[in-house]
Amino acid sequence: MATIVLALDRRVEDRLIGDILDRGHEIIARVQGAAEVIAILDDRTPDVVLVSASRKHLAERLIAECDARAVRLIALAASDLERRHAASLGLYEVLEAQAEWAEVEALITAGVSVPLRLGPSAPGATNAGTVIAVWGPAGAPGRTTLAINIAAEIAGHGHTVALADVDTYSGSIAPALSMLDEAPGFAAACRLAGADSLSQSELERIAQRYSSPQGAFWVLTGIGRPTRWPELSGDRVTKTIDACRRWVDYVVIDTGFSLESDEEISSDLFAPRRNAATIAALRSADRVVAVGLADPVGMARFLRAHADLVEIVTDRPLDVVMNRVRPSAIGLNPNGQVASTLARFAGIDSAALIPHDQLGLDVAVLLGKSLRDASPRSPARAAILRLVEGSLLPVPVAKRRRLRRRKLSAVTA
Ligand SMILES: Nc1ncnc2c1ncn2[C@@H]1O[C@H](COP(=O)(O)OP(=O)(O)OP(=O)(O)O)[C@@H](O)[C@H]1O
Ligand SMILES: [Mg+2]
Repeated sequence: MATIVLALDRRVEDRLIGDILDRGHEIIARVQGAAEVIAILDDRTPDVVLVSASRKHLAERLIAECDARAVRLIALAASDLERRHAASLGLYEVLEAQAEWAEVEALITAGVSVPLRLGPSAPGATNAGTVIAVWGPAGAPGRTTLAINIAAEIAGHGHTVALADVDTYSGSIAPALSMLDEAPGFAAACRLAGADSLSQSELERIAQRYSSPQGAFWVLTGIGRPTRWPELSGDRVTKTIDACRRWVDYVVIDTGFSLESDEEISSDLFAPRRNAATIAALRSADRVVAVGLADPVGMARFLRAHADLVEIVTDRPLDVVMNRVRPSAIGLNPNGQVASTLARFAGIDSAALIPHDQLGLDVAVLLGKSLRDASPRSPARAAILRLVEGSLLPVPVAKRRRLRRRKLSAVTA
């Protein structure tokens, strides 16, 4: 049961109200207009505010007031104009005005209404943030996609997150999130780290903010100009990541693909050190997410590079992800085929499989948003969320206890 404030167009309200009450929810107030909702929020804190997405009902201040009180705000849009109005304010929990109550309720129960912080990860955990490096071989397997969406989902769970673009070959987080890449985020941080003056306030000055109603995070954008590559020496990258670790709960890093050391490629001392950044990031990481493309060429590339990666990662946790899984490229039962290939050729017995999801990714790229914000119900988002909740984030204490109780009762039964 949820407590709800309604600020809906009359016809929509008349259509939904019976179902809301039948389902046992409590309607605290029915008002017209954003200002009236804000007045109610001063007295009571409902679980949900359900508004029409018109200018009269939905305003920037209402979103801010709901966010400040961790009240879930859902809008119902009756036209493209209303949908654009909601999007322009950064609200993505928007349904069609004709939606059935069941759809609204599904959104209410599915999402995270109040960003809850999870307990400390494991015995011995310190206050230092966790560094997750996302690596993958050449061939655009989805490193940037994974890094952005892992950062977004972790932030959606209430943690502070910094997403760093350390890909010296094709830094692309800024355009993917519609941000300026004129500001040389990560490289600027490296330069300051090299001079031992990278403080938390400098990081906040340099970083850009990806804003989202319930999952904002910091972004250190990548390198746009080749002349800046030398700034990313391994030493400076390590220092910068250490500073980020002290700044936020989670640092997610989009790395380059090559694991060759630069000296193997060029003996020129002044040649750009492109791979040092990737290798330093992988060495600094507490855990690594390795992503490959789930087609015959992508998997061959992944398996060849996997052995080199394991040498760098050594005994730290390594999550294998196969992306864009689809029968058209790999045959019937693609999940089974991918899993058996990984087990047979690399002894990998568990991997996260992300389905090929053109529509979901296209909407995200078009809007310059995470999947969580742009296509919350897309299959790729669901798979990434499972990876984040099942492997990257610590299991919440309550859930751990439930699992333990279940195990105990299984033993005593
Ligand atoms: N699961 C998916 N389904 C459909 N398209 C996807 C999926 N994952 C990624 N893509 C698309 O594949 C393309 C490459 O993805 P991305 O940029 O994340 O790869 P990358 O490994 O970072 O590549 P690069 O080497 O250019 O840095 C993008 O257009 C992205 O939208
Ligand atoms: Mg990339």
